[in-house]
Amino acid sequence: MIELEDIDRIHKLFPVEMMQFKCPDSIVDKALELLYDEELGLHNFPNTVYTGRGDLHTRPEWTEVTDYIQQCLNRWMVHYKLQCDELTVSLMWGVYSKAKEGGKHPMHRHSMSAVCGVLYLTDGVPLVIHDPVTSRNWDTLEIMREDGWDCEVEIAAKRGKLVLFPGWLVHGSRGNDRDTERWAISFNSLPTGDVNNTAQDYPMARIKVS
Ligand SMILES: [Fe+2]
Repeated sequence: MIELEDIDRIHKLFPVEMMQFKCPDSIVDKALELLYDEELGLHNFPNTVYTGRGDLHTRPEWTEVTDYIQQCLNRWMVHYKLQCDELTVSLMWGVYSKAKEGGKHPMHRHSMSAVCGVLYLTDGVPLVIHDPVTSRNWDTLEIMREDGWDCEVEIAAKRGKLVLFPGWLVHGSRGNDRDTERWAISFNSLPTGDVNNTAQDYPMARIKVS
């Protein structure tokens, strides 16, 4: 009888990568101060999380915060050597949920966003990321696992933490059942300038966003 050998290798294919930054206190304080004056509404009704207009990046008083977020997006672009001139902030808005009200974002993705992200202005209930390989979970052939793997992963929301992830990644947040308010800034980005090179060194697209 042939003795079974150890596993030679497990290929971890197409992993999802998120990028995390630590935002300086002064920028977090500035964003919080500005956000207190913003008009926020229940645009995700019946989920009681309040969001604002997506134009913060166009407003001069938000320049310092927008510049920081833009720098983080620049790091993503350089790290992955993306073929574009910039990943430009295309939408930026405030997010708020009251203490103990259970307000949350249901699972969603950011259409028309290459890379999106969140800057947490307070500690709070976690961000939840759903496994993008949907056919291997919540399916009739899913075999339950006892090795700790789950189709949802929680990312702790901590004041000053900024996370970037692909716009197609399905995510949400837990309901805010804590004693404290939860404040954050969310944002989208699009590739701008010369995007993707052809063999003739001419871009596939030249894009501007406002
Ligand atoms: Fe989101």
